[in-house]
Amino acid sequence: MKIFLDTAEIDEIRIAARWGILDGVTTNPTLYAKVGGSYEDILKQICDLTPGPVSAEVVAEDVEGMLREGREFAKLAPNIVVKVPMSEEGLEAISRFAEEGIKTNCTLIFTANQGLLAAKAGASLLSPFVGRLDDINEEGMDVVRELVPIIDTYDIDSEVLVASVRHPRHVTEAALIGAHIATLPFKVLQQMVHHPLTDKGIVTFRADWEKARKDAASKNAEPAAAGAAAGRQN
Ligand code: E4P
Repeated sequence: MKIFLDTAEIDEIRIAARWGILDGVTTNPTLYAKVGGSYEDILKQICDLTPGPVSAEVVAEDVEGMLREGREFAKLAPNIVVKVPMSEEGLEAISRFAEEGIKTNCTLIFTANQGLLAAKAGASLLSPFVGRLDDINEEGMDVVRELVPIIDTYDIDSEVLVASVRHPRHVTEAALIGAHIATLPFKVLQQMVHHPLTDKGIVTFRADWEKARKDAASKNAEPAAAGAAAGRQN
């Protein structure tokens, strides 16, 4: 399963890229609002750092507006994917972008049917939001459980990108279901790296190593000290 970062923070993207696990990045207006500045400049920097697709979200609600914003994003870098919300206008825009060869990520998907429609319109990426469904006492991962086999059954080209990920368990479940991609907040990525027993193990190994080296050094010093004492007596 591919791992994307769900962020507009350049430093987080740089770190994940250095770890060698970064396959792509998703941004949205809320994530952009957290960093501010020029969205275009931020996207260009993200595209330079990211080996795979970088999603840039349109905010227009009408087809022509979505097309205008998306075409501008697509000019920024070859790995830009235009993020379009699921709506009647969104479907039309996705289908027009597909005709123009511009890749899209259909966002705000909350049912398998919405995912199926977005795939039929030509979206490359389908983003079911699992965390927001969990937040309203539904089982968000059920949408992924339904959508992945639909995409597989009909051999559709689109990839299921599990979004609105809240914790590492979401990532494991997405991978077990066979989702193509999960996009994670940096915090969840860090949580995946760590385990209390791993962190404790590192500390214990280090302490045991240092103790063994100290013991070995003092054992080596003992015969030399004994030899010197014997020399003084003779
Ligand atoms: C995905 O592309 C979205 O940007 C994101 O996952 C939304 O997550 P949230 O529900 O935590 O805002």
